[in-house]
Formats: sequence, C-alpha cells, structure tokens
Amino acid sequence: ANSCANCSITEHLESVFAQAIALAYPEYSKTPVLIAPVNTGSAKFGDYQCNNAMGLAKKFKEAGINKSPREIATELQRHCPSSPLIDKLEVAGAGFVNVFLSKAFAAEALSSMLRDGIKPPSVPRKRVLVDFSSPNIAKQMHVGHLRSTIIGESICRLLEFLQHDVLRINHLGDWGTQFGMLIAHLEDRFPNYLNESPPIHDLQLFYKESKLRFDEDEEFKKRAYSRVVSLQNGTPNSIKAWELICNVSRKEFQTIYERLDVTIQERGESFYQSRMLSVVELLRSKHLLETDDGREIMWPDETKTGIPLTIVKSDGGFTYDTSDMAAIRHRVEEEKCTWIIYVVDAGQSTHFNTIFKAAERCAILNPSVHRVDHVQFGVVLGEDGKKFKTRSGDTVKLSDLLDEGMKRSLQQLESRGREKVLTPQELKDAQEAVAYGCIKYADLRHNRVGDYIFSFDKMLDDRGNTAVYLLYTYTRICSIARNSGEDFTDVAKVLSTVSIELGHEKEWKLAKTLLKMHDIFIKCSKELFLHFLCEFCYEVCAVFTEFYDSCYCIERNKAGEIIGVNRSRILLCEATAAVLRQSFHILGLKPVVKM
Ligand code: ARG
Repeated sequence: ANSCANCSITEHLESVFAQAIALAYPEYSKTPVLIAPVNTGSAKFGDYQCNNAMGLAKKFKEAGINKSPREIATELQRHCPSSPLIDKLEVAGAGFVNVFLSKAFAAEALSSMLRDGIKPPSVPRKRVLVDFSSPNIAKQMHVGHLRSTIIGESICRLLEFLQHDVLRINHLGDWGTQFGMLIAHLEDRFPNYLNESPPIHDLQLFYKESKLRFDEDEEFKKRAYSRVVSLQNGTPNSIKAWELICNVSRKEFQTIYERLDVTIQERGESFYQSRMLSVVELLRSKHLLETDDGREIMWPDETKTGIPLTIVKSDGGFTYDTSDMAAIRHRVEEEKCTWIIYVVDAGQSTHFNTIFKAAERCAILNPSVHRVDHVQFGVVLGEDGKKFKTRSGDTVKLSDLLDEGMKRSLQQLESRGREKVLTPQELKDAQEAVAYGCIKYADLRHNRVGDYIFSFDKMLDDRGNTAVYLLYTYTRICSIARNSGEDFTDVAKVLSTVSIELGHEKEWKLAKTLLKMHDIFIKCSKELFLHFLCEFCYEVCAVFTEFYDSCYCIERNKAGEIIGVNRSRILLCEATAAVLRQSFHILGLKPVVKM
C-alpha cells in the first residue's frame, strides 16, 4: 500500500471499491464506481460514501436475482482490500457504504506535505495547447479578452502543476483585409515610416481614420485593396508597414500581460498563411469542398446539417474558418498535441463545434487520441445588468480598468488604516495583490459559462467569497507562527520533534478539508472549471476560522505574555497556508505576508 501523500482520495477509494466489486461480483467488474464526499457535517456518517449498491441491485433484478442494496453493500464492505486511508467502513441507510478516513494517514499526509511541499497528484501526462487571450490588432482588447486571459492563464497554471507539457498560445488576430487600409493610411500619414518608427499613440483612432477614408475615398479604397495583395505577396514595404502597425498593439497587450502576470507566446493568424494553402489542398483532395455561390464551403459531416465552414471566399481569400482549420492541423500534426483547449467566449461555440467536427471528418482529429475543448464563458455585464460600458457608453479600456482597480484597492486598504502599519513597499505589494487579485478572482469564482456582473464594490468586499477575504485570511494564518515566539521556518526540523495531533473535532475537520485538495485539482482539470477551486479556498478559510475559534494555538496570560504554544496546531496552520498558497498560485493571486 502506498502512503498516498499526494493521491486524490476519491480516486484512491474508487480503486478500493473497484476491487471490491470485481471480487464480490466478477460479472459486474466494469461498473463505474460512485464515490461522493459526505456533506452532512455529522461525523457519524463518515467522510466519503460509496453509492454503488442500489445500481447493482437493479442490475441483479434485471437478471432475475433478488438482492437487497443493503445485502450488496455488506458484501462490498467485506470485499474491500485494506487501505491505509481507511479507518473503518460501515453500511448505512438504504445501502450506502460509509468510509471513515484514518487519522494516522491524514497526519502523515499533512506532515509529508509540510516536509516536501505539495506534490501534484499523478495523472497521465499530455502535451496540451491552450489558445487564450487572442485579441485583435488595431482593435480594442476588450473585457471578453480579459476573461479569456484570466481563465486561460489559470488553466495553464493548473495543467502545468499537474505536470502536463503546456503550450500557451496567443492566436492574435493579426491578418486580414483590414490591414490594406491601415497600410495605405500609414503611407500617407507617416511617409517616412521605413526610416523612423511612426509615433502612433492611439491605434484605435488610427483605425477609425483609415476606415473613414476607406468608406469615402474611392482612390484610397483602391490603394487599400492593392496593399492587401502586396501584403499577401510578401512585398517588403508592406510587410514592414504591417509589422509596425502590429508592434503598436503588441506593446499595449504586453503591458496588460505584465500587469496581470500572464505568460503567453504569440502565434497569430498570420503564422498559418502557408498552412492555409495546404489545408485547402488537403480538403480539396479529399473532395470535402463544395462550391456555393462562388465560395468553397465544407460541411461538418455528411448529413449537411448545421452551418458549413467557408474555406475559400468568392474572391479567393481565406477566412477565420480557414485559419482555424490550418491551426488545428498544425497543433495536432506538427506540435503533436493530444489536447487542445480554446478559451473563447460562448458566442463562438458554433464556430468551434463546427471546426471540431470538420477536423474529425477530414481525419485531422482522432477522437480516441485527441481531446479538444471549447472553454466558453459568458459576457461581462455592468452593475445595471447591461453590457459592460463606460458611463459615456464606450467600451472600457483594459488599462483604465486596471488603473481603477489599483485606485479602489488603495482606498480599501486605507479604510482599514493599513497605510499606518505597513511600510510603503508592503503597502504597494498589498495594493497590487488586492487590485489584480480581486479582478481575477471575481471572474474565476463564478461558473464561467454564465454572464457575470463586474462590480468593484462586490469584489473588494472583505466578508464574502472574494480575493480580499482570502488574502486577509492567509496573512492572518501566516502571522500565527510568526507571533508564537518560536521558529517554524524549518518545518522539517519542527516535525522531527512534534507530530500532528488530530484529536479535537475541529482539528480533524480542518485536516480532512485540506486533504480534499488533490480531488479538487483533478476535478478542475477534468472539467476545466476553476470555480471549484475558488469554492475550495473559501471552504478552507471558513473551516480554518472554525478551528481557530475553538482551538488555541498560542495561549497568553492577562498581561499578554505567551504561556503556552501548541506546536501541533501551528503546524496545522502552516499546512493550511501551504494549501492556500498552492491554490492561489493557480488562481493567479499573489499572497502577501502582511496587508
Ligand atoms: N481573435 C479572436 C476574437 O477576438 C479570438 C481567437 C480565438 N482563437 C481561435 N483559434 N479562433 O474573437
């Protein structure tokens, strides 16, 4: 038996009960095991429960055999192999097998976690590509892209923690006919662009100006079209102009990524130019393209239902569909990815479903080898429940939004008088941790599929399930060891003389909560939902508070002098801090020791 220091408890119990089912009823050995945590809060029902007896009873009945669920539960209990995780098993109710975790196992798992750090649960390693953020050049990077950036970054961090080989890809919208007019306009506004970088400060404005000329000036329009052609042909001056324009956006995007601590590799649509030509050839050779009104289209399957992809436009140009077909092929065939994740708003779900089906139809994707996910998310709403806009009705500039977050976070800290207690550096660290943390956490804590209301007031509230509350609780936990008057920096050394005791009901509850961590990481990565991890952090903080309220860690006399230090409990505090730190890292929250 392994010590299971970093195992998922649910997965371990699944294997225990799978063995029990196989031993008791070999004919049903393939039955999926059902393990659920017990959430009654009452110790007498145990910690986890196996719910397979009812389903098996039904199967027996269908086969003409009468066996009560209770009888089956008893047989399962009898056939469970012994496990270091399990203290005892009990049959209860209609036919549940209740599992009581072992305290010795829990104490050992927490000790080894403190000694060696938190080790990821082991999962089959994959090469994963996460396509996220992906804003468009010369257009505003809007709150939708902010959601994709935040969710995508956290998914990458989670999958990296689980030891997957992760490619973080920015599928930048850096190609298309709009560049014709941008280049033509650049030539007029900055004739010297080949020798000195054009000082474009506001690319959106530049875009608007060029669009206006495009719509009103026939001569300009003609030149814009010819620049599209010269760009596609690779004419050096046009390429240079295109690069200069892209660089302006690139710089803006980069400052946002730096502020949010996001790492991403640019591989825009332009990267796939030659691959678009070859994917069109592939589809043509497989006779999957059909002519429709001058265009060449591809249906996702033979039944010709749904919406076809437009692969070649009537003017011979390619589309968003073509670039995504080329990209998915590159990701599978050249990058050798077996898992591709697209973090893009829910409005594009038809697009991605069609791309996935079409890629399967032309044998780029093999569903038994490749996993593809469209990680979709809803829109961001303002506090009025309408689409998120500025007061004047414009789209919100992301840098302004982050600035506002910084301002509000400072106000929040000052309202608690923190500027009087913290050094200027500590205050600045806390301000950034709160500002960026609250924006990320507000996004991640909701089920991403729904729309969500952006409210600084709510996200800066220090009582609810917010980043502020979690960060404060974390600093409070860290201060306990610091204030004990003893040295806990070398935990391994402390552990050589102190063992973790879980005798008190609240100590035991806290330990079991912390040990759910690996289950949560696995669940989040299977379903690609991060709100489960947010809920877990909130639960850890709440259970910690219960523990701290009823178990003294440091005892003081009336004069405030320390008269007793419970080192086992301080180790529990340190374990709690470690679990929160690991979770915060995935959620992109920067914990601060003081705030
Ligand atoms: N640039 C696109 C947009 O802003 C998102 C691209 C997402 N990724 C992709 N492979 N299509 O809507």
